[in-house]
Amino acid sequence: MKEALEQIRCTAKELIACAADEKAVDELRVRFLGKKGELTAILKQMGKLDAEERPVVGALANQVRADIEELIASRTSQLAQAALTARLAEEEIDVTLPGRLPARGGLHPFHLVLNDLKQIFLGMGFEVASGPEVELDHYNFEMLNMPKSHPARDTQDTFYITENILLRTQTSPMQIRTMEQQKAPIRIIAPGRVYRSDAVDATHSPLFHQIEGLVVDEGITFSDLKGTLEVFIQKLYGPETRVRFRPHHFPYTEPSAEMDMSCFKCGGKGCPLCKGEGWIEILGCGMVHPKVLENCGIDPERYSGYAFGMGLERITMMRYGIDDMRLLYENDLRFLKQFQ
Ligand code: DAH
Repeated sequence: MKEALEQIRCTAKELIACAADEKAVDELRVRFLGKKGELTAILKQMGKLDAEERPVVGALANQVRADIEELIASRTSQLAQAALTARLAEEEIDVTLPGRLPARGGLHPFHLVLNDLKQIFLGMGFEVASGPEVELDHYNFEMLNMPKSHPARDTQDTFYITENILLRTQTSPMQIRTMEQQKAPIRIIAPGRVYRSDAVDATHSPLFHQIEGLVVDEGITFSDLKGTLEVFIQKLYGPETRVRFRPHHFPYTEPSAEMDMSCFKCGGKGCPLCKGEGWIEILGCGMVHPKVLENCGIDPERYSGYAFGMGLERITMMRYGIDDMRLLYENDLRFLKQFQ
């Protein structure tokens, strides 16, 4: 029996030392010390021993039990320590790693140009006005000296909502809305979306953007108009840019003109961008028609004014050398990222 006990101690020691995890250790505990375990089985046979031997074997059995318990305890704590070390190694944070930058958005080229343009006009004492895109025929045409029968209406393929309500085809109705609400002196620009029933191509879109300008005061002359627009263009495209005015016709200005600027690419020599002209048409303008002032309750004998209107698409495309307007609407990140 003593031999059997020594055998148990020996086997237990070997097995516990190699137990791979806490579960394996627990299985060994059951195997040796459990109710149906090997040690218990031997103790159950103690009755067969004679009185002298019994205390000796009993003491040995207790010693073996104590030894096994200690082996189990020490292996368990060894395994726990190893597990902790492994976990710490796995969860270690390298504080010297460079951070991951979150993707940042940027302003659309329209906004970049519009922000510059606003700064230029704000610097010259203008305010920024805005108004509805769903507009009355009355403001979009009628009050601008374009009655129902006027041929100039045909050049703007209008989206009508009802007979009298439409999507504004130009920002010019903002002239009327401003003059109805404000007294002279007036000095505003009005950027916004406009709509025309055009098919999409490299230079057309049914939705595009205009910037309207209006100045009304006593003694405003055509030279105020020329000076202001020349300064504006030179601030936007550089001081070497030249401008020229060509006579034109708009129903709401008299006289009317179109303004060209020297081609920013070739400086006026002629290139594919300006189609060999050296000049690029940039906006329409003129002195506010006396009838339009009168329509808004402003005395044309006392006050005069000038107005201008330009396309944001065009000035943005010129600014960045973009040759297809569709790029500005498609929101292709590969295109937009170039402006960040
Ligand atoms: N409304 C014109 C257009 O859409 C642009 C324009 C021309 C606006 C002359 C004006 C102006 O204020 O005076 O083509």
